[in-house]
Amino acid sequence: MLISGTTQIFVIFAHPSGQVRAPSLFNRKFQELGIDHVMIPIDVAPSNLSACVNSMRGIENMRGGVVTIPHKVEIAKLCDELGPGGRATGAVNAFRYDKDGRLYGDNFDGVGFVSGLKDNGNDLEHRKILIVGAGGAARAIAAELVTEPIANLDIVNRSHDKADEVVEIVKSVTQTDKLSSIVQSQIDFERYDYVINATSLGLRPDDPLPFSITALNSECVVCDIIMKPEETALLHAANQAGMKVHYGKHMLDYQISFIAEFIGAFKP
Ligand SMILES: NC(=O)c1ccc[n+]([C@@H]2O[C@H](COP(=O)([O-])OP(=O)(O)OC[C@H]3O[C@@H](n4cnc5c(N)ncnc54)[C@H](OP(=O)(O)O)[C@@H]3O)[C@@H](O)[C@H]2O)c1
Repeated sequence: MLISGTTQIFVIFAHPSGQVRAPSLFNRKFQELGIDHVMIPIDVAPSNLSACVNSMRGIENMRGGVVTIPHKVEIAKLCDELGPGGRATGAVNAFRYDKDGRLYGDNFDGVGFVSGLKDNGNDLEHRKILIVGAGGAARAIAAELVTEPIANLDIVNRSHDKADEVVEIVKSVTQTDKLSSIVQSQIDFERYDYVINATSLGLRPDDPLPFSITALNSECVVCDIIMKPEETALLHAANQAGMKVHYGKHMLDYQISFIAEFIGAFKP
């Protein structure tokens, strides 16, 4: 597809931008669909982000796009309106400009995780779930899981005050009564149907396991959100023990269609 005078522009804000996958993924899809759209990488330093985002508000054929490290939190502050994922996390990974120049942002990490889980044959009804970790990803997942017909969701974190914070913010956004924080020494791992690693433990080969799988019941589904390596030490241990596992790659793969819908990428 050649760029023409009517091409609609989508961008990804990143710094650096060399590693981003979104342009090749979206541009391939634009070509397949035969639509006059393009996605371009914008490598912008944090100090220039607000000037860059605001200057694009007046561009008639600028639709929106994707945001990645290190801009997810700062761009949320520049948005005129945030969706539920954005409000729960204070971070945005997709945004769109309206005709009047208003900027709408949302975060699809949680939707991506939950739809990936369900689409891979995991039933959430009446299930007891534990999230280990209380960073941005844990918040996003928690905000989405509590909208499902689960029995309850607990959050545990090395720094307990951050687990409390997640509960407070997710409750304020979703009004859920299914969510609690739990202190590490009081966890009964055996009671959970799903345990999700939402810490960054597993990225490095010498990381300890975020939790021991020996304490889990044998029916428990062990989930990780780390994408590289695809099979973390945690998932390897669970696989070796014959347990069901859920891989981190699904969280990203499944959010693409939600992001595309939100930014109107696949609509001419
Ligand atoms: N698959 C996907 O699409 C996807 C999307 C987003 C993120 N991720 C991955 O998810 C991970 C978390 O992302 P995030 O944005 O939530 O990060 P974050 O906000 O920095 O949170 C990191 C979490 O890991 C915990 N942690 C870090 N080191 C630890 C240690 N040594 N022992 C115990 N806990 C430790 C932190 O605990 P404290 O609060 O105590 O520091 C915190 O709960 C990252 O590895 C990221 O690559 C994957």
